[in-house]
Amino acid sequence: MTPLIVRRLFLLLVTASLGLLVFLIYFSLQDDWTRTHADFLKEESIYKQPNDAFLQYTEPKEDLTPKNNPLLEEVDEPVSAKPLVRATDTRRTKAALISLVRNKELDGIVDAMVQVEDTFNHKFGYPWIFFNDEEFTDEFKEKVREQTDSEVKFELIEKKDWDAPRWIDKDKAKKAGKKLEDAGVRYGAMDSYHKMCRWNSGMFYKHKAMDDYDWYWRVEPDTQYYCDIDYDVFAYMEDNDKVYGFTIALFDNPKTVATLWPETKSFLMKNKEYLHKDNAMQFLLNPSRPDWNAQAGGYSTCHFWSNFEIASLKFFRGDAYAQWFEHLDKQGGFFYERWGDAPVHSVGAGLFANQSQIHWFKDIGYYHFPYFNCPKSKKCHGCKPGRFTTDDLKDSLMPENCLPQYLKYMGDR
Ligand SMILES: *[C@@H]1O[C@H](CO)[C@@H](O)[C@H](O)[C@H]1NC(C)=O
Repeated sequence: MTPLIVRRLFLLLVTASLGLLVFLIYFSLQDDWTRTHADFLKEESIYKQPNDAFLQYTEPKEDLTPKNNPLLEEVDEPVSAKPLVRATDTRRTKAALISLVRNKELDGIVDAMVQVEDTFNHKFGYPWIFFNDEEFTDEFKEKVREQTDSEVKFELIEKKDWDAPRWIDKDKAKKAGKKLEDAGVRYGAMDSYHKMCRWNSGMFYKHKAMDDYDWYWRVEPDTQYYCDIDYDVFAYMEDNDKVYGFTIALFDNPKTVATLWPETKSFLMKNKEYLHKDNAMQFLLNPSRPDWNAQAGGYSTCHFWSNFEIASLKFFRGDAYAQWFEHLDKQGGFFYERWGDAPVHSVGAGLFANQSQIHWFKDIGYYHFPYFNCPKSKKCHGCKPGRFTTDDLKDSLMPENCLPQYLKYMGDR
């Protein structure tokens, strides 16, 4: 007969082992749950492909940083290869002012529209096109039409162009969104935000309402415009062979774009010919915030803030950008991460255009919470020259300014 004590010890041992087993199974499952899309891709090898030397950062020969802050010098109209086109000239380009906006943003878009009309468009008369994934209300249409003498169009985005494509795993996207949100990524778990970023990245230029145009100026609700613009910005782009114009350059939260650059590298490895010989890759990869580069697979996260942009539709429709977008879209980072249209447009412009085709509109005073572009000029009113952010946020947000890196690599031209 076994002594009681031995039987008890045996029972205890069995119970403990079972407990340990359950614990181990639980945590191995947990591990799977917490693996990010980035971890998955790391193991999948795109980080390990050889011969990517042409996609590595190299220090530039020359530091092009201007001696003085260009916003504190008197800012004039840009130097142009041909005379700037004035309102009195008859020439107009194929261009439109465009806005993706919801009915509830009516007041905000009217506010922005009034300013764009006052400073620029009442002189030039370019059409406005409003996009929405829902029907605009009659109130919205009426109110918006009252703000301009130009033609106004209201366009519905079809569900098939707005919704996540069929290959996106909805469950995986939901879990990834939750993880991003928990990691402090704003709008990480907001489904509509992901859809908007994707539409702005790769769908807007394919909408049939854009077919007639070569150029667009993107306008967002609640933005401010401080300076009179007395030349045709689209004709300036056309005459000077520009493809992308911006006002503000920022660093991004690297968690939103962990695999954007690795995926881009994998695309370029197979499509070397698309990389422009005189690209702005060194700016994109600048290592001024090494932790950012490390978290974003080499990308600095520097990007042009795309809530303002004046750009070429031909560029976006071109083989390089459009095919790169298809590649990105297949990888799912618009849903499994939170790739923004700003870094996507910026990386695209930085790689597939000549760096001389990117233009800083320093003469256009602009504000979108919480950042400014404020030039010193008689044409500007209500904006303190050189100001980057609001006074109360200055200490925390100053490091987000990537314009110094832009100027270092690209110069002030
Ligand atoms: C890029 O632009 C510059 C300035 O316009 C020009 O001199 C250069 O030839 C262009 N590079 C290529 C590869 O087209």
